[in-house]
Amino acid sequence: MAAAGGLLQQGGCVGEEEQGVGVRRGGGSGCVRELGAEEGLGISVTFVCKDGEEKLVEVPIGMSMLEAAHENDIELEGACEGSLACSTCHVIVTDVNFYNKLEDPVDEENDMLDLAFGLTDISCLGCQVVASPDLDGIRLKLPAATVHFKVDGYVSKSH
Ligand code: FES
Repeated sequence: MAAAGGLLQQGGCVGEEEQGVGVRRGGGSGCVRELGAEEGLGISVTFVCKDGEEKLVEVPIGMSMLEAAHENDIELEGACEGSLACSTCHVIVTDVNFYNKLEDPVDEENDMLDLAFGLTDISCLGCQVVASPDLDGIRLKLPAATVHFKVDGYVSKSH
C-alpha cells in the first residue's frame, strides 16, 4: 500500500453506471468493510474523473474527500474550501450502498446540492464526506461540469 494520501494506481474508464434507486443516507450502522481499512492507515477511494480516468488513492481516516482530491491532483474544485458556500465539490457516489453509509446531509449541504450541475439521488459534497473505515472502497465520480457562483466576500487561497 502506498503512503497515506498517495496515488496508488491509475486506470482507464470503466463506464460504470451509478445506482441511485432506493437511496437513503445515514443508514450506515452495522456492516463495515475491512479491506485495507486498518485504523490509521487510511481507506481506498477511487475517483472517476470527468474524462473517465480512474484514480485510486489512499485517504487517511478523518480526511475529507475534497482534501484527498487536492492532495492527489484530482480536479475537484472546492471553491469555498469546505465552508458549504458552493457546489463545486459535488461528487456522485457510484454505489448506493456506500451512499447510504454517509451521514445525513445538513440543510446547508442540501441547499448547495440543489445548485449543483447534474445532481443525482446519490450526489454529495466532497468536502462533507470524511474518510472512515466503513467507506473503504468507495468510488466517487466527478460530474461533467460544476456550477460556480461567486461567494460574497470569499477569496479562495488555492485558485
Ligand atoms: S467546497 Fe464549497 S461546499 Fe464543498
